[in-house]
Amino acid sequence: MKGIILAGGRATRLLPLTAVTSKQLLPVYNKPMIFYPLYTLLKAGVKDILIIIAPDYAGHFLHLLGSGKKFGANFVYEIQEEPRGLADAFIIGEDFIGDDNVVMILGDNIFTEDLSEHIKSFSSGGRVFAKEVPDPQRYGVVEFDRQGKALSIEEKPTTPKSNYCVTGLYLYDNRVVEFAKNLKPSARGEIEITDINNKFLESGELDVRIIKGEWFDAGTFDSLLKASVWVAQHQDRWEGFGL
Ligand code: TTP
Repeated sequence: MKGIILAGGRATRLLPLTAVTSKQLLPVYNKPMIFYPLYTLLKAGVKDILIIIAPDYAGHFLHLLGSGKKFGANFVYEIQEEPRGLADAFIIGEDFIGDDNVVMILGDNIFTEDLSEHIKSFSSGGRVFAKEVPDPQRYGVVEFDRQGKALSIEEKPTTPKSNYCVTGLYLYDNRVVEFAKNLKPSARGEIEITDINNKFLESGELDVRIIKGEWFDAGTFDSLLKASVWVAQHQDRWEGFGL
């Protein structure tokens, strides 16, 4: 299983903080933000990790993370010149992924529970993690039937069919690369990971699992503050791996 941390983007919602550094290097309590998604992958035994970053501050990531050796892992880096969408990770990562399965995590997502077994046990299709949130219209929203089976996923719907959003951790088999290469940009000009999820869903191969622990998408001032406070109170969750 190969790992990708997607840590590019514009981070406009965190201006002016992000006028002088990258979002994923900002502190979440006592660590740079990217340490948390990195921890989620390392904890699950994922050692080969591609870190996708924007051109600005690329050197800062290299300075912080290096080859990965000090974390017992191997890191490689790619630059995403323009934020073309989350699904671009699988096009940029094509050679790195090779013939393997892949787990992709967003560089600003903080999962507070151990998801190792969900990652390690993955073998084929797609697997995503849904969380009940008060503001689902900001995310990809999952519609479930009465039995809890996922029926559809809609990207940023104005009238969400549930309060469950797809969080920033995605597992796919190797077909994801071809699926990503065939995507057409959405109305907002991005290639959408929701379209990839729906592709796996259509063939009955998307496993949507509900997570129970706290989850933070630290891309706004409020969520960044909430994540910092939560981490300060539960620091022992992120011990090990030299992080
Ligand atoms: P977003 O938070 O949706 O976008 P952003 O980081 O550019 O922020 P803003 O909306 O405030 O301008 O992105 C989620 C994560 O995915 C974040 O870690 C950045 C990353 N990302 C990329 O690396 N490349 C992309 O093309 C996109 C859209 C996001």
